[in-house]
Amino acid sequence: MSDKPRIWITRRLSDATLKRARRDYDVVVNEADTPGTADEIVAASHDFDAIVPCHSEHFTAEVVARFGDRLRIVANHSVGVDHCDLAALKARDIAVTNTPDVLSDATAELAMLLMLGAARRAVEGDTLVRTGAWDSWSPAFMVGKQVTGARLGIIGMGRVGRALARKARGFDMEIHYCNRNRLRAEMAEGAIYHDSIESLLEVSEFLSLHCPATPETAGLMNADRFAMMPKGSVMVNSARGALVDEAALLAALESGHVAAAGLDCFVTEPGGNPAFSNRLDIFMLPHIGSATTRTRDAMGFRALDNLDAFFAGRTPKDLL
Ligand code: DGY
Repeated sequence: MSDKPRIWITRRLSDATLKRARRDYDVVVNEADTPGTADEIVAASHDFDAIVPCHSEHFTAEVVARFGDRLRIVANHSVGVDHCDLAALKARDIAVTNTPDVLSDATAELAMLLMLGAARRAVEGDTLVRTGAWDSWSPAFMVGKQVTGARLGIIGMGRVGRALARKARGFDMEIHYCNRNRLRAEMAEGAIYHDSIESLLEVSEFLSLHCPATPETAGLMNADRFAMMPKGSVMVNSARGALVDEAALLAALESGHVAAAGLDCFVTEPGGNPAFSNRLDIFMLPHIGSATTRTRDAMGFRALDNLDAFFAGRTPKDLL
């Protein structure tokens, strides 16, 4: 029997990650790559010293209440931890880590893609060409909204928000932000601080969400807040679906107050919202913000770095 810590990896992580994990630990990988169920997570808590889950595995208080005594650490392969009841895990003395920093650029790139795709009517244009329905051209055809020089409001100026601000400056956008704390000047890099979401929304021709999903931020973008944005604005969400009241977004698009949206996250995942499916003014992707080869390797290595530190008796860098 191996004396290495026993690790359950709930999904098929990158090849490089699995190679390193197998070298250093006694590893079981869920090769089926299906989301770990509550029963599987509970069973793993009896049989493994560590679990490396993704945001697809839900560590609710009810699940944690059924845990065995063996599990010591949940080393998430994600920056978001809204799938974990942190208080319940802490009460069981189970360490929890995440993977910040390493996915900021990939996610910010995707937010930029959503912004550009929504603003320039990418779904509508792609559909026209792809279906053979493109049969005319005129100066009034497919006119969209220009990103260059526009005001971008960012809610949540953490690592991803700041990475997006840097990329958006390349498009000469004027950056505004709202954050729990005002950033120091060298971090803000000229971005204009708003002490309320309401004040930020009033100036946001483009809006991008980058705050965590918590009970306080659930439905943050609701009907009242969409109404505060300038008419013809564009909203994008590459953070978490729970931040947006999807019925309110639909109503704001329907009325024309919001011109377009770009979404990589939905209230229901996987699957998304069927009510969005026939809307050409919503540019949608299936929660792939961090899905690049480089970033997947970096996320896997970061989760393993946290495990290495934990089992060596050190405090993991990303201990929550
Ligand atoms: C994250 O890391 O939180 C991404 O959404 C992928 O899970």
